[in-house]
Amino acid sequence: MSGVFSPTRAKIKERTLRTDKWWLEPAITFGVLFSFVIYATFRAFEGEFYYDHHLISPFYSPCLSDACVSGSTLFGWTPVPAEIFNFPLSPALIILIFPLGFRMTCYYYRKAYYRSFWLSPPACAVAEPHTKYTGETRAPLILQNAHRWFFYAGLVFNVILTYDAVLSFKGKDGAWGAFSVGSIVLTMSAAMLWMYSLSCHTCRHTVGGRLKHFSQHPFRYKLWTKISVLNTKHQQFAWVSLFAVAFADIYVRQVASGAWTNYYFFS
Ligand code: FES
Repeated sequence: MSGVFSPTRAKIKERTLRTDKWWLEPAITFGVLFSFVIYATFRAFEGEFYYDHHLISPFYSPCLSDACVSGSTLFGWTPVPAEIFNFPLSPALIILIFPLGFRMTCYYYRKAYYRSFWLSPPACAVAEPHTKYTGETRAPLILQNAHRWFFYAGLVFNVILTYDAVLSFKGKDGAWGAFSVGSIVLTMSAAMLWMYSLSCHTCRHTVGGRLKHFSQHPFRYKLWTKISVLNTKHQQFAWVSLFAVAFADIYVRQVASGAWTNYYFFS
């Protein structure tokens, strides 16, 4: 027997000797992540209100199907015409696999949801209910190793969402030089996603890992030191980018449904 019931462990009846509110952080994490999952699922299935006058929701970008709302497709490009493959559901159901896969396999989020959803363990120095530790060495958790591939896919999405943010500087008539609340919302969302990706542990390893001598790779060393600084804030970027991207979707939804008006500072 291993874990907290191992015969070599001290026999303490109490689940924890901590007297602080150790349960608060996992409880908040659970509440926020659960709300996000519910909202993202609702939006993924909704299939409308994702585009309005050069503002596209990050949940629906890149929209690459003939079924996408007019003007929302990336470069007007639809690689698979509807006559060949007519995906009957919302395009977000395909798109969200990548950003959600990236977040679900993130090292920080793993810690967060293992603690808050599976209580494994719920906090430091608090015994978990499980009697066995199986780690991430077999199915299904071995799939967490796909994180590096989701990281690369995430970079492609960041480029696309940055392009979308640039497009938001077009006015309703299609002329460049407009500036609206929507431009700020999409730009902040894209910027925070970049910070989240650049502070990722995989990014740090890709840039500076597996090197025997930093002295022979001065450029990579310099980049690695910068990314290492960002990496210390990865948890913060994980949350801020989650809120930023969720708010960008809410904002576009409200504008596209007519509930809010996108205010133009100038157009
Ligand atoms: S470790 Fe969090 S995104 Fe890579």
